[in-house]
Amino acid sequence: MKVLTWQGNQNVEVTEVPDPRIQEPTDAIIKVTSTAICGSDLHLYGVLGPYLKPGDVLGHEAMGIVQEVGAGAANHLSVGDRVVVPFNISCGHCWMCGHGLFAQCETTQVRDEGKGASLFGYTSLYGSVPGGQAEYLRVPQAQFGPIVVPDGTPDERFLFLSDILPTAWQAVRYAGVPPGGTVAVFGLGPVGQLAVRIAAHLGAGRIIGIDRVPERLALAEKYGAETINFGDLDGVDDVATTLIDMVDGRGPDATIDAVGMEAHGWTLAAAAQKATGLLPDALAQKVTDKFALDRLDALYTAMKGVRRGGTVSVSGVYGGELDPLPMMEMFDRGIQLRMGQAHVRRWTDDILPLVLDPADPLGTLDLTTHRLPLAEAARGYEMFQAKSDGCVKVVLSP
Ligand SMILES: NC(=O)c1ccc[n+]([C@@H]2O[C@H](COP(=O)([O-])OP(=O)(O)OC[C@H]3O[C@@H](n4cnc5c(N)ncnc54)[C@H](O)[C@@H]3O)[C@@H](O)[C@H]2O)c1
Ligand SMILES: [Zn+2]
Ligand SMILES: [Zn+2]
Repeated sequence: MKVLTWQGNQNVEVTEVPDPRIQEPTDAIIKVTSTAICGSDLHLYGVLGPYLKPGDVLGHEAMGIVQEVGAGAANHLSVGDRVVVPFNISCGHCWMCGHGLFAQCETTQVRDEGKGASLFGYTSLYGSVPGGQAEYLRVPQAQFGPIVVPDGTPDERFLFLSDILPTAWQAVRYAGVPPGGTVAVFGLGPVGQLAVRIAAHLGAGRIIGIDRVPERLALAEKYGAETINFGDLDGVDDVATTLIDMVDGRGPDATIDAVGMEAHGWTLAAAAQKATGLLPDALAQKVTDKFALDRLDALYTAMKGVRRGGTVSVSGVYGGELDPLPMMEMFDRGIQLRMGQAHVRRWTDDILPLVLDPADPLGTLDLTTHRLPLAEAARGYEMFQAKSDGCVKVVLSP
């Protein structure tokens, strides 16, 4: 089958590998019909290169048709079912899963690396599970994970249940915006766009989106957000002050960081990230793991711009172990901080009725700007990273 593989820094390629087979009774094999590129894939494409090896199959946002089911998953799936596959692999029956903490599943935790649940297509750090940017996908823990959806509507209606819809939902729920309150969303990529829409749906009174890409700002405005173009501003404090001024001189009740470790900004970490990219892998892994490698501009603005006593909800992915945080400011402002990988299955039952609603209240059909054949995935990565050609979300057809 054809798969999209990582080959080196900013270099991905479609290659041929053997079709996947059932390995455990709880596996299923899915014929992938749609698979998206995520902001998290961009971290692999760039900064997290030291954790990959050439040939690793990428992708963690996939849906398709069940081809084969192991005996241990037959209670949940049948051949021919149309399913969406959550990006985290969770068993559904361990202590963590029992508490809705599916991203920390104790059955699939990657203990050697000290990490949470295994993820599709996310390197040795997360279990080296081949990803879903592929013609076929082996799905472990298929007795629980895949979400069965009805036929008859376009894949994009359901595809984002695999990751960005629950991620944005969790971001908004963790933000704890009071009814009618104000939330600011940093980063208007796919996750931030959906966070804007979900915040409105869940009752926020005012939503402010921050980015610097004109069409992303415009798309958020279409869904009711006011916007700030941080490209017009002069540093973390300028962004934070602008936000505070906009909201009664006090700041929003909550801020959401939907940007993560590769934020654009004004601090020097960019140079450090670039330098790490030039190191041999073993050394670069140590540097990435043990030092302050994240570009924290978006997180800083989210922390400094939230009102005193407010909540900062982080869905952007970070990877440094020793990132400097403004502890005095965080403590003095009394902010609450919540973060983490999305516990996909925890939220999908809440979201399903919305994606099934013919009125499409979350605009699932109004996010994908590019649908490309898998063979053109490399061009998709380039465009999505450069945000060129109006690119907001790329969906691949294997
Ligand atoms: N927690 C999870 O489970 C989970 C799931 C999916 C994605 N993510 C993460 O969410 C983040 C966003 O993903 P995406 O797919 O929307 O990616 P994306 O890269 O398209 O979006 C990031 C956006 O942030 C903007 N941005 C950059 N610097 C900024 C700054 N200083 N202030 C405000 N905006 C800034 C960019 O212009 C871009 O539009 C990524 O870090 C991704 O890894 C996390
Ligand atoms: Zn993702
Ligand atoms: Zn579990």
